[in-house]
Parts: sequence; C-alpha cells; structure tokens
Amino acid sequence: MSEELVHLHNVSVGYDEPLIEGINIEIFAGDVIAVLGPSGIGKTSLLRTIAGLIRPLAGEVELAVPSRGGLGYIPQRLGLVGNLTVRGNVEMGTRVGLSRWYPPFVPVPSKQRNYVDQAMVDLGIDHLAEQPVRILSGGQQRRVATAKTVAQRPKLVLADEFLGELDDDNVDIVMRTVNQAIKAENSAMIMVEHHEELAKGVANRIWRITGGRLVEELKR
Ligand SMILES: Nc1ncnc2c1ncn2[C@@H]1O[C@H](COP(=O)(O)OP(=O)(O)O)[C@@H](O)[C@H]1O
Ligand SMILES: [Mg+2]
Repeated sequence: MSEELVHLHNVSVGYDEPLIEGINIEIFAGDVIAVLGPSGIGKTSLLRTIAGLIRPLAGEVELAVPSRGGLGYIPQRLGLVGNLTVRGNVEMGTRVGLSRWYPPFVPVPSKQRNYVDQAMVDLGIDHLAEQPVRILSGGQQRRVATAKTVAQRPKLVLADEFLGELDDDNVDIVMRTVNQAIKAENSAMIMVEHHEELAKGVANRIWRITGGRLVEELKR
C-alpha cells in the first residue's frame, strides 16, 4: 500500500463560480499525474487549489507533505529572478526547506549546497551557474526552474505546462531528472500539460477536466 500524499474530499475549484466540482481523489507516493483539458477549463486553478494558494469553494484538501519545503510548485511563468545567477535561483529552492531563513547573501548549509550542485549537473546547467538567468534561453530557464524544485527535494511537485516549448532533448533531460528525484524521495508529481502524447508518455495516471468534472482515464 502506497503512502497517501494528497486527498481531495468533494472539492470545488473556482473563484466566484465553480470551474470544477465534486473532486474526490487521492494521490500516492510515486504517482506522476498528467492533467489534460482545454485552455480556460481550470487546470491552473486546480493546481493552485492543491498548493493552497486559493481556497476550494467547497470541500477539503488534505495534504500529507511537510509544511516547510514539502511542496514544489513550478508555475507556468517559472517565477525566476532574472538578475540573480542560475546558482542563486536554484538555491532559493533549498531555502524553502530550511528551518530558518537564510537571506540570499548567507550561504546555504553544505548539505543543501550539494543538492544545488547535483541538480545543476543533472539538468546540464552547471556551466551556467554564475550567469544571470535573464540572459538564458527559454529552454535553459525552464531547466533552472526544474533544478530549483529538484534541489528543494519536495514530496509533491506541481508543474504547470513546464514541458511546453521545450525541444525533445530538453524534455528528456527535464523529465529524466524529475523522475529520478521523485523515485529518490518517494514523492509524487502533478503536471498540467497540453501536449497530450508527451504527457501520456511520462505519466502513470491521467486526469481529464471536462464538463466541470475531473475524470480519471484508464491509461493504455
Ligand atoms: N484570480 C482569478 N479570479 C477570477 N477568475 C480567474 C482567476 N484566475 C483565473 N480565472 C479564470 O478561471 C478560468 C480558468 O482559468 P485557469 O485555471 O487558468 O485555466 P487553464 O489553466 O485550464 O487554462 C478562466 O476563465 C480564468 O479567466
Ligand atoms: Mg493554465
């Protein structure tokens, strides 16, 4: 029996009006879930609800991940700091998980420094470590955002269309690294993806948002 990380109890996602209603679903350690559905249907809002960034209109989100650093969120717009170096951005991930705040000019402890170095090597951005993020290509920035989340060692990764606009080599590197991290930490991932074939290739579960409902599809 796999460890339960998230349990949605009759959750409605939305703002003034619900977008998705009656969600009853569990997420287990090891799951890689692809969330599919047309633009504007509420996929990002679902991720934000699970992350606790917006409240469900009804129901309850039960999260069994550490409150500090247990959740890694890769937003569609990546949320990187352009003037900070690649290393500085990746380090921000590890700072989330530390028991006290280390401001950017205070070095992170050596264990976390190792996580940062390892993540940069895994994602092939170690040669860019001292470059400001703003000069990097879109694909390289996406690798930085992934390294930041991997270095954080979260129990649950929420990724919003982060494979979009990546070439095949980048998709391979990013997914291989994330999959390794998920195995190593026995964590889980929910990824919103509009490339269906890509998503189905990497996920073990498929959620389709349709008609205001979340429907789990059998994977074949
Ligand atoms: N903060 C907000 N307040 C009100 N409505 C919002 C807000 N954010 C998104 N929406 C609306 O919710 C709907 C679903 O948006 P979103 O979850 O981003 O969909 P998707 O990610 O599937 O494209 C859209 O109609 C969008 O305009
Ligand atoms: Mg979206």
